[in-house]
Amino acid sequence: MPPLNRPLTPCDYVVFGGTGDLAMRKLLPSLFQRDRGEQLPPEDRIIGVSRQAMSDDRYVAMAEEGMRRHMKPDEFDPAVWDRFSGRLHHAAIDATGESGWPELAETLGAAPDRVRMFYLATAPDLFGPICERLQAAGLVTEQSRVVLEKPIGHDLYSARCINERVGAVFSEHQIFRIDHYVGKETVQNLMALRFANVLFQPLWNSTSIDHVQITVAETIGVESRGGYYDHSGALRDMVQNHLLQLLCLVAMEPPLHLDKDSVRDEKLKVLRALKPIGRDQVPACTVRGQYRAGAVDGAAVRGYLEESGIAPDSGTETFVALRVDVQNWRWTGVPFYLRTGKRLQQKVSEIVIQFKPVPYSIFPPTSGELAANRLVLRLQPDEAVRLHLMAKEPGPGGMRLREVPLNLSFAETFKHPVSDAYVRLLGDVVRGDPTLFMRRDEVEAAWVWTESILEAWQTRGEPPKPYIAGTWGPSTAIAMIERDGRTWHEDVGGGQ
Ligand code: BG6
Repeated sequence: MPPLNRPLTPCDYVVFGGTGDLAMRKLLPSLFQRDRGEQLPPEDRIIGVSRQAMSDDRYVAMAEEGMRRHMKPDEFDPAVWDRFSGRLHHAAIDATGESGWPELAETLGAAPDRVRMFYLATAPDLFGPICERLQAAGLVTEQSRVVLEKPIGHDLYSARCINERVGAVFSEHQIFRIDHYVGKETVQNLMALRFANVLFQPLWNSTSIDHVQITVAETIGVESRGGYYDHSGALRDMVQNHLLQLLCLVAMEPPLHLDKDSVRDEKLKVLRALKPIGRDQVPACTVRGQYRAGAVDGAAVRGYLEESGIAPDSGTETFVALRVDVQNWRWTGVPFYLRTGKRLQQKVSEIVIQFKPVPYSIFPPTSGELAANRLVLRLQPDEAVRLHLMAKEPGPGGMRLREVPLNLSFAETFKHPVSDAYVRLLGDVVRGDPTLFMRRDEVEAAWVWTESILEAWQTRGEPPKPYIAGTWGPSTAIAMIERDGRTWHEDVGGGQ
């Protein structure tokens, strides 16, 4: 079936952080893609907000340069650009001061009934002040929505403060806390795989599953985000949100319906079932790493401490590996191994469901060793679902068995390019559908558990383990899983 190209309700997109990295890398390119797919009504406007004054023309030029840098040449269609650039405007606003708000009110006031999306691609400490200013300027209508980029705060306390302040201005149904991992096609396919097929349903528990691995590996370093990252680290930047969301989607019970509360209720139960990692479990269940100079994709790269914006004696982790226990009826006894890091050998995100071995082998030793079945969801790149099974090798020589994958490659099967998660998620905001966004209680539950680790790390005061850029992280991450008699999935680097 061809994709549905339904234009959305008319909307004014107001992007705070409109000249920033996220706007150029993801938000404007995703809106451009929607425009290209005839999904933006002609009257839609995109207002980039930043502190410095500039003309619309200057903003358009800046957007063109930034978007071309981040989009593939064949995505940047000049005919669409002519139309798209006409939608772009700039507003100079001091987020914590008085200037610029009346002008924004005047611009938006021309279409009071239109959907208004206030996208806050700023530091989280500005979320509260911006929302309060929006309210004071009379800009918050029934049709308004606010989108909060992660991280929502720095810890549980700051997350609660943000949620309070934003919640005093917008109702929960107007608040969209984005986690772009949930919008990725393959992540949604995890729901399709689990709940649109009967095959895995009886196997999806501790009786048949040995363990689960979730890897989100990146080759990039901290880029231009040193100032933010050095105060965050991999646990806050990636685990508290993206990896926990993936874990929730693997572990949750079937929701009653595919609607906002059913899905989020089930994810919340998983978050609440995570066993806290205390001080004594730190050595066995956590690994923190920090990259040193090395080579990635054949190019020499500097170490974390030499990156700009990083304190020379920084103890921030750029790699985390965890062994996580989900304490409930379905999952007790099934460890979830999570790992993520920057400057690793390969950019790859995968979920691996490792099944248990067959209870008894009827085959003689000459047949070869029986590998337990494995389901691999490759989120990026080369989106695919692979089910590794044992099969008989054809031909003479007796019953020789070999592990082979049943391979569902999305590119080959659907012949439709996988679009960026933001394309889908921005559409959901306009439609007012928060199913794929974090509810307040979810974010806070994720922080409760994350804080158990942060506190345990703090009390032990151990520095992160160094690893060479371009490897798979500290060797202790390999030792952690091997102590349990398991190994990281070999296709994504089981060794240094
Ligand atoms: C962001 C993190 O949320 O996700 C970044 O802040 C990270 O540090 C990025 O690089 C990874 O996203 P993706 O979609 O490229 O895997």
